[in-house]
Amino acid sequence: MDMTENEKIAFIKVIECEDGSHTLYREDLNEHYHSVFGAISESKHIFINAGYAFLSRKISEINILELGFGTGLNAFLTLLEAEEDDVKVNYTGVESIKLPYELISKLNYSHLIKAEESKEVFDLIHKSPWDVSSKITSNFILEKIESKIEDVNLAQNHFNLVYFDAFAPVIQSELWTVDIFRKIYNSMVEGAILTTYSCKGDVKRALKSVGFSLEKLPGPKGKREFLRATK
Ligand SMILES: C[S@@+](CC[C@H](N)C(=O)[O-])C[C@H]1O[C@@H](n2cnc3c(N)ncnc32)[C@H](O)[C@@H]1O
Repeated sequence: MDMTENEKIAFIKVIECEDGSHTLYREDLNEHYHSVFGAISESKHIFINAGYAFLSRKISEINILELGFGTGLNAFLTLLEAEEDDVKVNYTGVESIKLPYELISKLNYSHLIKAEESKEVFDLIHKSPWDVSSKITSNFILEKIESKIEDVNLAQNHFNLVYFDAFAPVIQSELWTVDIFRKIYNSMVEGAILTTYSCKGDVKRALKSVGFSLEKLPGPKGKREFLRATK
């Protein structure tokens, strides 16, 4: 019988990456939440620099969708950047496994990122309620949705930026499909971008077939290339 989402939590362990930042490891899947070379460096490279920073030069309010909210690292780093830049962010994170605070509190992200009040905002991100919008700072509104992406209703023509951060296609092929990419594409405005770490041929073909234009960009340590897709 399949495990419930709650039962999967027993298989999640905290691991230290090569850059000293923590990630989580799903023992049952033999899969990490981030690159073992560095959770923070990967997130900054693929999602913050190629996604958020690329757009924040052009627009001052950004609606972001994240597939796989997980540890909240991408939300946390985005919030810190948005505070610096005075950009308004409306952040929607979809996640099928809500991690317990006991696990989240072991992660060293706010310890490593010594921005003022970073521990406080990291905690606010995680202690904010699920399935409602919460104002984390004056610039950052967060809605964490506990659901599988397959089951969630996404607003149409709404998102400017998508962080596509599911487990790898070899582990979760059902999420890197034409159907899921079409659903996400329809939720994005014209000119919106999606970044993701996978550059697999099947992923590129599925993204192209729903209408995205693709750019291959040089990857972070341990990854030759990653993708930025534009609607
Ligand atoms: C590679 S991890 C990335 C997590 C997160 N972005 C982070 O930085 O911690 C993939 C995440 O996708 C979540 N996930 C897996 N299947 C999902 C689904 N069908 N819908 C939504 N989230 C899913 C996992 O539970 C996990 O948190």
